[in-house]
Amino acid sequence: MSDHPVGPPKFLVISSSLHPTSRSRLMAKVALEQMRGIVAGATGADAGSWVEWVDLADVSLPICDGHSAYRDPAVGFLSGLITGARGILIASPIYNYDVNANLKNLIELTGRAWQDKVVGLMCAAGGAGSYMSLMPFANSLMLDFRCLILPRFVYATGGAFTHDSVEDPEILHRIEALVDQLVTVTNALAKA
Ligand SMILES: Cc1cc2nc3c(=O)[nH]c(=O)nc-3n(C[C@H](O)[C@H](O)[C@H](O)COP(=O)(O)O)c2cc1C
Repeated sequence: MSDHPVGPPKFLVISSSLHPTSRSRLMAKVALEQMRGIVAGATGADAGSWVEWVDLADVSLPICDGHSAYRDPAVGFLSGLITGARGILIASPIYNYDVNANLKNLIELTGRAWQDKVVGLMCAAGGAGSYMSLMPFANSLMLDFRCLILPRFVYATGGAFTHDSVEDPEILHRIEALVDQLVTVTNALAKA
């Protein structure tokens, strides 16, 4: 993989839901804590500087117009965070058999910042039938930006949650396995 920042790999967790009590955000927060634990254990360093967190509900992004939106300071800030990370974990709602428009907008706005990232995907959905809905998004990252998409998604429906936590042990296990794989693969590629 080319054009990455030098030094130990950095990680980024992105939550894309705008819902105030988002379930995918709950998943992202579980993943964030696990990732920070792994990175702190491995490096002995303050994991906060190696594992960044972005909640798109806290960021006012313009809608991508392919023109002046790229000059928005929030776009520059997020492009910098994405460029600086080697492994990125994304949590999104499923809307209309796809990731939500907010996440699609982020990719449109930050495009080339995604080049060659290792990417893990998690989503919250209303029902089991939308299981394959992440694939168009995964294809886009893979084919447009040569991202390495981990072949392990976490897909959770309402029964996996209480109002403020992820409860289903199987989903918690799958989040842990995804985080573990993201860190392992990203670190291995960084050494290659
Ligand atoms: C506009 C909209 C479209 C949705 N489309 C789907 C869908 O295609 N498939 C599905 O399983 N759930 C769908 N849902 C349900 C959401 O995926 C579900 O509420 C999920 O928890 C949202 O994620 P969040 O809680 O992180 O915001 C939709 C919800 C909304 C509001």
